Amino acid sequence: MRWGLLVIMGAIVFAIAGLVVLLSRVDMSAVQQPGHAEEYLRSKITRAVIRRRAAREDIPAGPADRETSMSLAEGKSVYDANCAGCHGPDGGTPASVGQGMLPAAVALDSNRIQSYSDRELFSIIREGIRFTGMPGFARTETNDQIWDVVDYLRALR
Ligand code: HEC
Repeated sequence: MRWGLLVIMGAIVFAIAGLVVLLSRVDMSAVQQPGHAEEYLRSKITRAVIRRRAAREDIPAGPADRETSMSLAEGKSVYDANCAGCHGPDGGTPASVGQGMLPAAVALDSNRIQSYSDRELFSIIREGIRFTGMPGFARTETNDQIWDVVDYLRALR
């Protein structure tokens, strides 16, 4: 019994020491961007989580007039009002606000983003990505508006 207690106390001291070392290395700055390996790993994890999430989510069918010039115009106006501030007016070069985030806002015309399925893009926009600057628009945009933005993102390719 006494030995068990000693082992537990030792483990706690060890964990606290580990935490102190870890925190002293992390300065909470958002300026220093992560290295390639870290970014690669993180984007793979994000991708896997989004894929799993979108497969389980109840995602409504898009409006009948999807991908017409009218829905693209609506998508652009939703984009300009809600996304351009971080992802940049053309979606290809993130705005300075988005560049200053960690993780930084991404170029939406890139292969990595365009290889998401429509459902996955819908999920990203509706639910957002926790612990990053990417907000969820479930409360502020209708499902149809979100589909219009998805189609607008496709048009950036
Ligand atoms: C306040 C800043 C901000 C706004 C506004 C914003 N985003 Fe983002 N977005 C981000 C950041 C930061 C990321 C990177 C998250 C990550 O890498 O995990 C991101 C990531 C994404 C991604 C890719 C997810 C991935 O795998 O990295 C998509 C797609 C996206 N945003 C679309 C949009 C759309 C469409 C809108 C508008 C409806 C929007 N964003 C509004 C900051 C923003």
